[in-house]
Amino acid sequence: MARIIAGIGSSHVPAIGAAIDNGKTEEPYWKRIFSGFEKSQAWMRETKPDVAIIVYNDHASAFSVEMIPTFALGCAAEFPPADEGWGPRPVPTVQGYPPLASHIAQSVILEEFDLTICNKMEVDHGMTVPMNLLFGKVDKNSHWPCPVIPLAVNVVMYPPPTGHRCYMLGKAIRKAVESYPEDLNVVIFGTGGLSHQISGPRAGLINSKWDKAFLDNLSKDPQKLAKVPHVDYMREAGAEGIEMVMWLVMRGALDDKVDEVYRFYTVPASNTAVGHIILANRPRPAKPAGRHKPAAKHKPAAKHKRAAARAKPVLIRSR
Ligand SMILES: [Fe+2]
Repeated sequence: MARIIAGIGSSHVPAIGAAIDNGKTEEPYWKRIFSGFEKSQAWMRETKPDVAIIVYNDHASAFSVEMIPTFALGCAAEFPPADEGWGPRPVPTVQGYPPLASHIAQSVILEEFDLTICNKMEVDHGMTVPMNLLFGKVDKNSHWPCPVIPLAVNVVMYPPPTGHRCYMLGKAIRKAVESYPEDLNVVIFGTGGLSHQISGPRAGLINSKWDKAFLDNLSKDPQKLAKVPHVDYMREAGAEGIEMVMWLVMRGALDDKVDEVYRFYTVPASNTAVGHIILANRPRPAKPAGRHKPAAKHKPAAKHKRAAARAKPVLIRSR
């Protein structure tokens, strides 16, 4: 059986991607930000997930404003980096995992969540920046450390889905993953935010008090967080703060009670508050013998496979 072992929340500020791509990570302004992800990258290297589900939003790269699905699941075998106006980011093409993606599509749609199925899709900084922050810089001609299933959420044009809808979708995704027979350790990302507004009279808005309360509730009281209405995000966290609802998909896919492995928060990066959190499901009893063998065609590379004994999440520290 596949299982979700941990959830990761991460901002996806495009300027962070530019800093990586242009070799500026050691400059004092950026070092302050990247140093906050060093423990997380160590955690990721130790955890070695077989597959990552990354909940993110497209910024008019794969979907124009002419057609915007509320929830779009990437079922393709690969997802090239999108040209966001200055050429594609110099990162590897993201490898998908069609068997699990298709299974999630079937399970979640039959649970009455209407996903759009994407069999061809480019991915922008909304996905590749969090991947860099957690996996580190990866040469364009190399490979990301694990396959990824993208889930794009519309938070760029009104109306975006509610936080509650996102939270319940996370629960449906978890049910889907746990009904997939292959023995896989899966991590799920929620990305975007935290507080920021990029245009209008309130451009530059950052609300650290709101952000920190969000992280607290994400960790300890997600049901309370799932009841927060749209207008509160926009009023308190800025127009683009609505991206934070995507973190609730991640949270819904985890246990009610989780271990907070790590948290990092700093302001600003570009004009945005940067938040980052790792939440781990608590270990479950060891699996019995007789593990299902994955289909050879889509079997992850051997370096991605893990023994069941390694399903126990790695705790860096309590906050
Ligand atoms: Fe964004």
